[in-house]
Order: sequence, then structure tokens, then C-alpha cells
Amino acid sequence: MKKLCLLGLFVSLASHQVLAATTPLPLENKDAFITHLMSQMTLDEKIGQLRLISIGPEMPRELIRKEIAAGNIGGTFNSITRPENRPMQDAAMRSRLKIPMFFAYDVIHGHRTIFPIPLALASSWDMDAIGQSGRVAAKEAAADSLDITFAPMVDISRDPRWGRSSEGFGEDTYLTSRIAGVMVRAYQGATPSAADSIMASVKHFALYGAVEGGRDYNTVDMSPVKMYQDYLPPYRAAIDAGAGGVMVALNSINGIPATANTWLMNDLLRKDWGFKGLAVSDHGAIFELIKHGVARDGREAAKLAIKAGIDMSMNDTLYGKELPGLLKAGEIEQKDIDNAVREVLAAKYDMGLFKDPYLRIGKAEDDPADTYAESRLHRAEAREVARRSLVLLKNQNETLPLKKDAKVMLVGPLAKAPIDMMGSWAAAGKPAQSVTLFDGMSSVIGDKANLIYARGANITSDKRSLDYLNFLNFDAPEVVDDPRPANVLIDEAVKAAKDADVIVAAVGESRGMSHESSSRTDLNIPETQRELIRALKATGKPLVLVLMNGRPLTILEENQSADAILETWFSGTEGGNAIADVLFGDYNPSGKLPVTFPRSVGQIPTYYNHLSIGRPFTPGKPGNYTSQYFDDTTGPLFPFGYGLSYTQFTLSDMALSSTTLNATGKLDASVMLKNTGKRDGETVVQLYIQDVTGSMIRPVKELKNFQKIMLKAGEQKVVHFTITEDDLKFYNAQLKYAAEPGKFNVQIGLDSQDVTQQSFELL
Ligand code: NOJ
Repeated sequence: MKKLCLLGLFVSLASHQVLAATTPLPLENKDAFITHLMSQMTLDEKIGQLRLISIGPEMPRELIRKEIAAGNIGGTFNSITRPENRPMQDAAMRSRLKIPMFFAYDVIHGHRTIFPIPLALASSWDMDAIGQSGRVAAKEAAADSLDITFAPMVDISRDPRWGRSSEGFGEDTYLTSRIAGVMVRAYQGATPSAADSIMASVKHFALYGAVEGGRDYNTVDMSPVKMYQDYLPPYRAAIDAGAGGVMVALNSINGIPATANTWLMNDLLRKDWGFKGLAVSDHGAIFELIKHGVARDGREAAKLAIKAGIDMSMNDTLYGKELPGLLKAGEIEQKDIDNAVREVLAAKYDMGLFKDPYLRIGKAEDDPADTYAESRLHRAEAREVARRSLVLLKNQNETLPLKKDAKVMLVGPLAKAPIDMMGSWAAAGKPAQSVTLFDGMSSVIGDKANLIYARGANITSDKRSLDYLNFLNFDAPEVVDDPRPANVLIDEAVKAAKDADVIVAAVGESRGMSHESSSRTDLNIPETQRELIRALKATGKPLVLVLMNGRPLTILEENQSADAILETWFSGTEGGNAIADVLFGDYNPSGKLPVTFPRSVGQIPTYYNHLSIGRPFTPGKPGNYTSQYFDDTTGPLFPFGYGLSYTQFTLSDMALSSTTLNATGKLDASVMLKNTGKRDGETVVQLYIQDVTGSMIRPVKELKNFQKIMLKAGEQKVVHFTITEDDLKFYNAQLKYAAEPGKFNVQIGLDSQDVTQQSFELL
């Protein structure tokens, strides 16, 4: 294939008499190869490489192929099978210079096999499991001819009103940064040029998760210290792990849209961080510079974007339309275009496409007979990862695990919800291949008469919400209602519950409620489902809530009513089996929250690692002049890092190897972890550090390390963490990254609040 391709290039070049046919192309030398290729390209061909189009029903395929053959398109997204992409690559091979296309897609949490949503993956605190989900996704996507994904999404989110909280890894910088690196390595494998790897493009650069008020696409205004300290490190971690691409955020940052932000894209990303990869705008973002009010018209928008270092424009036509005129008028320079083209070609080179444009497309005779074949799925991996991501929030009177011979009532609009099981951004996943909770529980309960089912409620009775949710899915209605009135559904459920030993209610959000553009003002479970929960509670039967949702919800009342609560997020293709594994005790839950659960929307933001303040809340009766909302209890409902197990763990004998640390030294922090319960189980031991006094106010604590540890019933183990000066560094007011001598508190806990503490001095 390699020879063929080179030969094709020679013939094509020779026929256009641009290059002496004897000149060898230095394919093995990336820079020389690209320089050489660029010397053959016309301006139009260069600008063509900067165009990334979405394949949708609106654009006839024949026209697309014509455009590709004319050298007017560099890559596509949303075409996701080999038979779809092969004719486009064929068209590229008919173009004058035979520059291969790349094919992109949003492979966010699985491709054909859907893994738990990213927020759920983070809840596993299990880097191997998370990595496995990314590796499987890459293999499946590459086998479907995809070269690059717009992932991982590592936007720190501390405002659960933001619907895209579901797509990220939570509120914490350290945890998200760790996962960012793991995901990039998982997608890209040993090299992005391998046939079973896809290139990662980290997004959304930058700070998208901090949109004001949690309202999607809103502005971001943030101090430089907060930016550097809390929000930028995960993108940096992805880039340090070798991410080949970056997707640029739709939001503005301190008054300048990211897409026109030369500081962000050139000074920080390329100069400071040394990024050499591909920068892609988000959907239509160049055009949106006009709406942001920083560009008069399309011409100015294109100029701002290319000057800022946006290489490829996603789904708008402004580069094609405006760059030639801008160049002619001297408003941009040739090098502005050339830099962008070079980065596109370099990414294609790194994806292995110049060596073999059909690397992931393969031969037609090898195409899968059935794209959706069961045999193409990785169910065992999905089930294992899913069960590791479930978080047990409450388990009063050992309501869980359920007895396999108990009579169980399953109720709720999410009990039989194959679409919702997948969560949003479900790539090429098919709802019909999802295991629902009903399916999963049916497989465990031998005597089918012992599983009673009633729907009990619709997702929501709010017509406005319903219309919105159904507008989000073009193919089919997302949310299908039972047309019977709410009280009829509840009565039916309550009646059926009379025969049950225990009630399991699958409640929460439909997947579209936690999606792009799905910001909420209210984080309650929709009222119609709350009515159901109240009615179920009134039966007096033990009540287990299985929550499905893509963000922290406010579940104060439900936490009081329920005997047990299992947070399952949207747990993917094998979700129903994974949840059943936990409900019936075949797997002992080990997940921990990667986000804080607020008691109410009014408390937001509630992230655990906030800065110290002059008047921290001190309980008092009546209240006092300390930082609090006087009308509610202070503090979260469930803190960051929280999650129970069917066994019990204790921590004791915390010790530091020294009370001092010098700049080149190491300190050992240890603690005895004991499984004091009756079951084997896993938990996450978390290490937090507080810089007590600094030149700037520091957070009350910050996660610096963790270990997920398995212990047999009764077993104990000393857990060690190494602390070095690096763990103590932060960005000071001059944005200098350094540690400052003084006192540090080290806290170790099984969540962020219930900790044991020791101190040391950095000399
Ligand atoms: C818009 C979203 O913001 C982005 O995350 C996604 O990658 C693109 N659309 C392409 O689907």
C-alpha cells in the first residue's frame, strides 16, 4: 500500500509537471516530507486541507466526493463505517496530490460498545478500568475506519447545572488530569499511527466547564491563578501524554473568544506548552466570532481565527471563502495559512495515513458483514468497567444487597430505558444492544414471578422539557411517554408493590437532560418521579433508589425516604447487568464520587477544594457571622470522594516519616487500612494536602494522590504515599509555579471530609 501511494503521488505530480519525477519523496522524514508536499500545493489545495465537514443528510455524497477529489476538503466527521468512508478516501486518491482524508467522530465513552459516561468512569477511580474503556473504544472506532476522536473532554466542572458535566471527569484537577493522560494513551495506544489506534484531540480548550451560571456556551471570566491552578492542568496533562489534537472551546475567556484568542492558542498552547499538533475549531465557532461581537463579518472572523492559530475550521465555509482575499490584501500572511496546513498534514502523517490512506478503512472484502453484529461488541469489558463505576450513597439496615429469592418490585421510567442507559454522546451505540435494568435483574432472578414491574411515572410531565428533550434527537423521540395520567401510573405501581419484599426504583434524568445545551436551573429529580417516590415510601416497604443521571442531583428528600441509594449515572451497553451485579451482591460496590452533591441548587458551587476564607462556617445557635446560608444546613449532601461498600473499612495509625521535608527530599505518609466487615471489598484511600500559610490564599485541601485497594474480609494493610516538593507547588500571584516553605497538613481519608491529619514543615 505504501509503495502504491508513493507511486500515485509521483504520477500525479509528474503529470502536472510540478516536480521532476526523479525527486524521491522523503516519506520517512516527517518534516522534509511535509515541506516537500507543501511545495507542490496550490493555495486552494492548502485551504482545502483546513476544511473539516460534518457528513449529514444535507450534503449529497456525490458532491462531497467531487469536492474531495478537487482537493477542497481535509477531513470529515460523523461518517462512521468503512463502506461510507472508503469512497471518500478513493476520491482523495483521485485528487491531484492524493493527500489522504481523515475521518473523525465523537468517540467519548465507547464506540459500538458504550461504556459508562465519563463522569461515571471517573467514579471508578480506577485508571486501569478507565484505560481499558478507552482502548476498546479506539479499537472499535479504528475498525470502523475512524482516525481521530474529539476526546477526552477534560473540562473541570464545578457547576452541575451545566449539562456537559456528564461528559467530563468531575470537579477535581488532579483526578481529571490523571484520567486525561490515561485516556490519551488509551486512544492512541503505542502510537497514533497504529491500525488499531485513533488520535486523541483533547477538548474544549479552554475552561469550557466554567461557563457562567452553568449555562452552556456562556462566557468565562476567571483569574489567571485559578485558571493555571485549577482549570488548565488537565488539558496540559493530555498534551503531555501526546494528544495529537486540541478542540478549541466555544466560550470566551476574559473577554476574548477562545477561537480568536492568540494568547491561549499561540502563547500558552504552542509556545509555553510546546504543542505541535492539530487545533480544530468547534462546530461553527469561527462564524460565531461575529455573534460574540469581536468580528464585523465573516472576513474578519476568518482572519482572527487563522491568526489565533485555528488550523481546521469545523463546519463553516469561512476559511475557503475569505482566506484567499485576506492573503491578497496582505491582511494575513502566507505563513499563517502554511502553519495551519503543516499541522493538518503532520496530524495525518502521525495517524499513519500517508503511509497507508486505507490503514483503518481496509479492503472491501474484509468489511464486517453486519456493522452492528453482536460479535463486534466488548460486553465483558463494558460490564466490568460499569460495575466499578457505581457509587453506593446510602445503605441503611443493609437493605442491599438484595436476596436473590426475594420478591422484588422494579419501578420507574428508567427501568426499561435502553437509550438512556447509554447516556449522551453514545457514538455508534445502538439502544437495542443496551441491557436495561429490567433485563439485568431478570437475568439474576430465577423465578420470573419474583420480579414485578410497573412503570410508575414518566420522566417528566413538564411539556416544555419534554419538547426540548425530543428536539435533541433527530432520529427518534428520546423520551416516550406512557399516555396514562400520572396518578394512574402511581396507583398501579403502589398496588403492585403490595406483594413485594422490596422496591427498586430507577429514577433520575433522561440522558438528554445531561447533554450539550441541556443546562438546568433545578437539579431535583423531575416532580412526577418525586411523587412516585413519595407514594412508594408510603407503602412502608424497603425502598432502593437506583439513580440514573449525568450530574449531581439535589436529592435531600429522597435521601431521607430511601433505605438505599445507588448512583449509577448512565452506565452504558452493559449497565443493566452491572447494576444487577451490585444490587444482588455479585459485585461489592467501590465507586467514589468525583463531584460534590449539593443539598440545593442555591449552594452551588460546592466543590470541596475551595479557598480558605476569613470567616469559615462555625456552627452556632443561633447562627453567627460566619460563611453560611442561614436557611439551610451548611455543607454538601455527599462530599467529593464519597462512596460506601457492602463491607466496612477503617483507617488508623496515620504516620509521617518525618516532620520536615526539604526541597529534594521525600516524605512517606502511611495509614493502616482495615476491612472490618464480613465481605471482601475495595475502597479508595485518598491523600489530601493543605498548604496552611502561603503568599496567596490556598485551598482548604487538595487531592494529591489516591490508591484503590482490595482487601479480603478482616484483612489489613499499611498504605504508603510518597510526598515530594512537587506535590506542594502552586501558581503564585506572578504565575510562578513553586512550593513555599512552611506548614502543610496531610489528610488521609476514604472521602474528602472524613479524614485523619498530620502536619509537616517544608524547609
Ligand atoms: C460540538 C461539541 O461542542 C463538540 O464537543 C463536538 O466534538 C462537536 N460538536 C462535533 O460533534
